[in-house]
Amino acid sequence: MVTYEMIFERNRKWVADMKAKDANFFDKLARDQTPDYLYIGCSDSRVPANEIMGLEPGDVFVHRNVANLVNNTDLNVMSVINFAVKHLDVKHIVVCGHYDCGGVKAAMIPKDMGLLNPWLRTIRDVYRMHHEELDAIKDERLRYNRLVELNVKEQATNVIKTANVQKGYQKKGYPIVHGWVFDLHTGIVIDLNINFEGILKEIQKIYDLTGMASEHNEDGD
Ligand code: CO
Repeated sequence: MVTYEMIFERNRKWVADMKAKDANFFDKLARDQTPDYLYIGCSDSRVPANEIMGLEPGDVFVHRNVANLVNNTDLNVMSVINFAVKHLDVKHIVVCGHYDCGGVKAAMIPKDMGLLNPWLRTIRDVYRMHHEELDAIKDERLRYNRLVELNVKEQATNVIKTANVQKGYQKKGYPIVHGWVFDLHTGIVIDLNINFEGILKEIQKIYDLTGMASEHNEDGD
């Protein structure tokens, strides 16, 4: 086990290592942040955003919660998206789930989970929306893992539903929203290649927050 004291020793060593690589590293770090990426992932300790993306401090703005959910009434994640798009001007937003996610598994257990009920219900809702596909998968682990992928897609869609993303994309051509899954067994990040433009066009039939709905109607969309 890493003791509490060891954390500080490791921190000092990390400072020395970073300075050895670049003497001005912390001067630059303190100046400002201009990350191109917003990462929304699971709180799971085995899925650290910077490490799996090979990025340094300053390269990625990070939000993590249980099972990487993007709930529209969650002031925390909505503030993160707002800040990242409007002020940091990020070019890409990634929702990254991971196979063997404990949050997704917990949502599939039919019992009262107390405070976690409303949180896990979002995942149960994803199951309900895709129950025919999921119920056809006989292997339990494969079924969970497919739910992990579908959950990523739904949460990425929730990101696309936000006014910040819709207006930003209309004005600047970004941010682009992506869905990824991290495989704990291999360390590989899998791009689910969600169709950002297609989902945007589809959801804007109902969730258009750009104020351009009339133009869309004239196009017969
Ligand atoms: Co997880």
